[in-house]
Amino acid sequence: KRGGGDSWQLSLGKAACILTGASRGFGRSLALLLAPRLETGSVLIPVARSQGGLAELEAELRCSFPSLKVHSVQADLSTEDGLQLVLRAVQDKLSGAADLERLLVINNAGSIGDISKSFLDFTSPAEVNSYFAFNVTSALCLTSSILKAFPGHPGLCKTVVNISSLCALKPFKTWTLYCTGKASRDMMFQVLALENPEVRVLSYAPGPLDTEMQQLARTKSGDPEVREQLLRMKQSGQLLDCSVSAQKLVTLLLQDTFASGAHIDFYEI
Ligand SMILES: NC(=O)c1ccc[n+]([C@@H]2O[C@H](COP(=O)([O-])OP(=O)(O)OC[C@H]3O[C@@H](n4cnc5c(N)ncnc54)[C@H](OP(=O)(O)O)[C@@H]3O)[C@@H](O)[C@H]2O)c1
Repeated sequence: KRGGGDSWQLSLGKAACILTGASRGFGRSLALLLAPRLETGSVLIPVARSQGGLAELEAELRCSFPSLKVHSVQADLSTEDGLQLVLRAVQDKLSGAADLERLLVINNAGSIGDISKSFLDFTSPAEVNSYFAFNVTSALCLTSSILKAFPGHPGLCKTVVNISSLCALKPFKTWTLYCTGKASRDMMFQVLALENPEVRVLSYAPGPLDTEMQQLARTKSGDPEVREQLLRMKQSGQLLDCSVSAQKLVTLLLQDTFASGAHIDFYEI
């Protein structure tokens, strides 16, 4: 069913979609752009910590896409309890979903970490472990547990998306945790692609987005040059609207021609 050249699908079929970090920013925009591409009977499970953000998204989705089943899960993915909460909800909500054509897991939730510090300041293993528990471990364990819980059937297309960053490839001063986390995730998902050729895996770098994370980046970065560069980007209108970047990801998923495991950047396509 994979589209080639210009002949891409208009729909992702009857799908179960788990999307982390859906309460705001890129994840929220992505949820709203994915919804019209999911056929009747599809289930969307948005995950985040903030009840308010999730409730608002859920209300908007229910109003615009009444045939979509939306079950948001309020969970903190930096804790094991939070992870278990999501896994239980996924089992619960998907056990009754028949004839699914696609399982779509989108690892979007993330944090930038303490970017005021230089490499030499990271002497506390607890601080470092806590960053990686959320940004690396939870994405690995959530994805593996979901794939394991749905061994699948012929005709079920499994797609895993890792929301990556230029920082997976290029170092930035004072962004030790963020760059390392994003590089680890890219590699982790390349191994998934290699081991499981039947799973379609994509690391998508969404470009510089006008979100809360970007605001933190331009105000809290310890390196003045990084701060100034990000401030210039904001002031000169170079930050991307989340919807513009999310639409590109949706198109990549509909086309479904990417090499599994690839890192694809917004500006490449
Ligand atoms: N912004 C950029 O310029 C940029 C550039 C490249 C890549 N990215 C990547 O794009 C993705 C989205 O970024 P964004 O800019 O939209 O970030 P954002 O505005 O900070 O949103 C982050 C999302 O993750 C959720 N989240 C944070 N901590 C969580 C936790 N412990 N458990 C569960 N959910 C949690 C947040 O919801 P709650 O607070 O409600 O939990 C929110 O929905 C991230 O992976 C980021 O690294 C961003």
